[in-house]
Amino acid sequence: MDKLEDLISEARVAFDSATEIAQLEQVKARFLGKSGALAQLRKGLASLSPEERPKAGARFNDVKGSIEQLLGDRRDAIQAKALAARLEQEKIDVTMPGRDRASGGLHPVTRTLERVTTLFRSMGFDVADGPEIETDFYNFTALNQPADHPARSMHDTFYLEGEQHLLRTHTSPIQIHYMEQHRPPVRVIAPGRVYRVDSDATHSPMFHQLEGLWVDQTATFSDLKGVVREFLRNFFEIEDLEVRFRPSYFPFTEPSAEIDMTFKDGWLEIGGCGMVHPQVLRNVEIDPEQFQGFAFGMGLDRLAMLRYGVNDLRLFFDGDLRFLRQFA
Ligand code: PHE
Repeated sequence: MDKLEDLISEARVAFDSATEIAQLEQVKARFLGKSGALAQLRKGLASLSPEERPKAGARFNDVKGSIEQLLGDRRDAIQAKALAARLEQEKIDVTMPGRDRASGGLHPVTRTLERVTTLFRSMGFDVADGPEIETDFYNFTALNQPADHPARSMHDTFYLEGEQHLLRTHTSPIQIHYMEQHRPPVRVIAPGRVYRVDSDATHSPMFHQLEGLWVDQTATFSDLKGVVREFLRNFFEIEDLEVRFRPSYFPFTEPSAEIDMTFKDGWLEIGGCGMVHPQVLRNVEIDPEQFQGFAFGMGLDRLAMLRYGVNDLRLFFDGDLRFLRQFA
């Protein structure tokens, strides 16, 4: 009988040493399998006398039951441990705050551009685009800007390697591209980034301009004044905003003027304009005897600064979210 007691403790030790179910099943075979230890003992029962057999049989069944019980307990323990480990690994802390999906906003210059575009579209203007890397021809020559014009100097213009190309210094080259592709009547605005060697609170090496061009048989200087004034009054939502045209010079317009608007107690320059120079029309094969028109260029960032009351242009380009979020 001691042998049976030994078998139980042997089974306990063996089961306990198994840490996974598959391992446990293998160990089980050693005790409860067809040719396992218990099967051997059962065979031994047959050689007992009929008197001894019932008692020994009952004892055998007790031991078998105990071993089966040990196996079941061990199986439960292994499964419980595996489950606990998995729960630990996959646990979700439902009390954790949700992850915030930040919503973006439009840049104030983009907002300004959208507003400007809407206003000019309502006045019948098309919207065009042009390359930021230009040739000398489009940026200067076709715009009647002579070879010795100071704006062509290295101090003002970013030339690219080889000096064949440059970063456009204004949006006016889009006038040329557009007129090469469209015959008059032409009525278009062209916003975009421009580049100059310049940097302080009101000048950035990259800034935005808004070009305007209207060419047909009868576009006059008074149309120019009307369009610009109407635009500025609508843009700033100031009905009695005054606009002043101050004589100036641009190689590609004649006559030319600076556009000033009333601001606080005085005047503020907002752009340049003029009647398209006959030579510019000739450069794109438009007959200046048949067609005439006007062009204007305004600082888009300047418009944004005034509308939003921003006093340093560089804030627009620093990418500081604390600043930008105020407009979102
Ligand atoms: N291109 C000029 C500038 O950058 C502005 C301008 C545009 C003037 C169109 C006249 C006509 O200063």
